[in-house]
Amino acid sequence: MSTSQATFSEHLQFKLHDVKLKAMGYGLKLMKIRHTHVLTGPAAMGELAEKVAQSELKKALIVTTPGAIKRGYSEKLRAALSKYGVASVVYSEVIPDPTFATVRAGLAVLKENDCDCAIALGGGSVMDAAKAMIVAATNDKPIEALMGMRKGKNVPLPFYAIPTTSGTGSEVTNAAVISEDITHAKRFMIDSRTVAKAAVLDPSLTASLPAAITAETGMDAMTHAIEAYISKLSNPESDALAIAAIKGIFTSLPICFKDGSNLEARQAMAKASLTAGMAFRKVMLGYVHAISHQFGALYGTPHGLGNAILLPLVIEYSKDTVAKKLATLAIETGLGDASNTQEQLAQSVVDKLKSLNQQLNIPTKLTGLKEEDIPTIALRSYAEALKIHAAPKYMGKADIEALIKKLL
Ligand SMILES: [Fe+2]
Repeated sequence: MSTSQATFSEHLQFKLHDVKLKAMGYGLKLMKIRHTHVLTGPAAMGELAEKVAQSELKKALIVTTPGAIKRGYSEKLRAALSKYGVASVVYSEVIPDPTFATVRAGLAVLKENDCDCAIALGGGSVMDAAKAMIVAATNDKPIEALMGMRKGKNVPLPFYAIPTTSGTGSEVTNAAVISEDITHAKRFMIDSRTVAKAAVLDPSLTASLPAAITAETGMDAMTHAIEAYISKLSNPESDALAIAAIKGIFTSLPICFKDGSNLEARQAMAKASLTAGMAFRKVMLGYVHAISHQFGALYGTPHGLGNAILLPLVIEYSKDTVAKKLATLAIETGLGDASNTQEQLAQSVVDKLKSLNQQLNIPTKLTGLKEEDIPTIALRSYAEALKIHAAPKYMGKADIEALIKKLL
């Protein structure tokens, strides 16, 4: 059992957070989240274009990256939109972990061209940047002032998503993460009106992803599902979604990693990523994300990689608090059966995450981690966890430091 080293004053802050979580949980439960039309199959991009036209939208901002242009995805989308009489302009300068400057630049293109909707064509960074753009487009405020819970008074522009990775689930979530320009500290926008009206899940768009990106983004989806499953705010609906996502990832991610061209496995991963997004959007996440965000800000660690490295360690720390749930998960995913003890079953989940990481060539150490940075990382992770997450077992700053030291 991992005993927390939290101080008396940290315990007081945990109690306060519990009170805040109750109120937030109630609000999230009542939050209405729009249904995203999920379009699959080879004709899905055309169907999305048809939906945009049916909504009487005239000009779309396509938010994307140079990579998606190079692979011809952007041209294909523009042609599909044009067929239905929808004009388009492309903003392709989205960087990984997009900053406010990225959002401002895309917003300028959107405004100059009088676009009336945005279509994200890319991974989590592209979708998050586009979400911030559609909120800023209708709310005359600095983008920084629109971060937080539903800060835009006016309804954002319509948003559509075509994910080209399977991990973030951002197409169905109410959250977007944008980094500060200089410090790269993460800021969060939570707004249920930024959930995509329709999303294309086309496995051919992820087929060319390198194995390492497939592994990292896939483990981001896994982290969403597991942190949702053990969240203090979890409920039967989020549990069912999380278990379905975890099952899908256990089966499909190793196949996608080995053979990226396996479209059946790619489709299953796209679905699992979306399902994991639906699992966490109303119940929040935990310390894996809280710590991983700091790795991203300080070292530029890819989000999924940071999550993957941290996931088994955080679950091991939390294991005794959520042993019953982890045991259920172990049985549901075939890691054990009723002949095993609860403790064995809970441990089997941790072991499975470790072996999956190994299978996916995820390292056990964090490249670039400096010992002198650990207190700062712990302080920031601690603060983030008490702001926007709902982890089942609290960590004091000393607990976080001890966990991060394992990655040296
Ligand atoms: Fe994530």
